[in-house]
Amino acid sequence: MAEFVRIHEMGPRDGLQNEKRLISTADKIRLVDLLSACGFEKIEVTSFVRADWVPQMADGAEVMAGITRRPGTLYTVLTPNVRGYAAAVSAKADEVAVFASASEGFSHRNINCSIAESFQRFAPMIDSARREGIPVRAYVSCAVDCPFDGPTPPVQVARVATELHALGCGEVALADTIGTGTPDRVAAMLDVVLERLPAAHLAGHFHDTNGRALDNIAVSLEKGLRVFDAAAGGLGGCPYAPGAEGNVATGKTVDHLHALGFETRIDRDRLSEAEDFARSLRGPR
Ligand code: HMG
Ligand code: MG
Repeated sequence: MAEFVRIHEMGPRDGLQNEKRLISTADKIRLVDLLSACGFEKIEVTSFVRADWVPQMADGAEVMAGITRRPGTLYTVLTPNVRGYAAAVSAKADEVAVFASASEGFSHRNINCSIAESFQRFAPMIDSARREGIPVRAYVSCAVDCPFDGPTPPVQVARVATELHALGCGEVALADTIGTGTPDRVAAMLDVVLERLPAAHLAGHFHDTNGRALDNIAVSLEKGLRVFDAAAGGLGGCPYAPGAEGNVATGKTVDHLHALGFETRIDRDRLSEAEDFARSLRGPR
């Protein structure tokens, strides 16, 4: 039997957050519902961050209230601190995700604090989540390069990933935020991280700026990773990472994984429909 690889669908959050034109709440709900029908185990729906920082995500509570929840799908929400966590709990998030950076420059630009301060912000919310039985995922941004600090030393990625895991994050997604990673550099980074954390706790989050995301997924598979983030239609980017393009597109990731002999349990026809709709939401670049 083919081995299972899980895709964490990012389209509604990482995909849409960078769109300049405000997308209607109804369209966001429709996108999540179309994605639910594809059979994803996890969909990242929205974020509870400062609305003046990321206006596109300001209607997160309404989106969460409006979606039709499919049994078997967990609906994840991105949360930077206790305030975001409280909003996520009110919105009945099944999972929350914190986001740290492996580089100081991006940490300050994206979440307005140092890496050490970000751990202090995450700790109380992760404690609450543990008490309330809500799983916590984490991102390590700039796991390869930082748009402000340049190449990131792999040991720094390992340090941040290990700290997040020690705080209580069950899954740590290593993010090539600006999509400049190449398979050899991703492999070198993974080798260092894997000395401290087993592949079972890691996920790959590759933006596809330079068209190398599938190659980076392939090398991550060789290293033992079995969870990858992708966004329907390849939408996205981070408003605080200049040059960051979209996440790797979900459809081409599914096709690539199937071609390599893995199983994803995604309904490919329904995914095509969801990707068409996701692309229709994309405004001019
Ligand atoms: P801050 O200003 O340092 O926060 O922002 P603060 O604790 O000092 O509070 C200042 C004010 O913000 C207060 O309001 C708080 O209540 C309010 P006041 O009392 O002055 O009226 N506030 C909030 N409001 C709403 N929601 C909250 C919240 N927290 C505080 N959760 C903060 C820190 C992190 C909130 C801010 O910097 C922010 O919102 N950043 C957003 C960054 C973001 O969303 N970036 C995109 C997502 S990350 C990404 O895309 C990368 C990823 O995909 C992986 C990869 O590819 O690398 C995950
Ligand atoms: Mg991202």
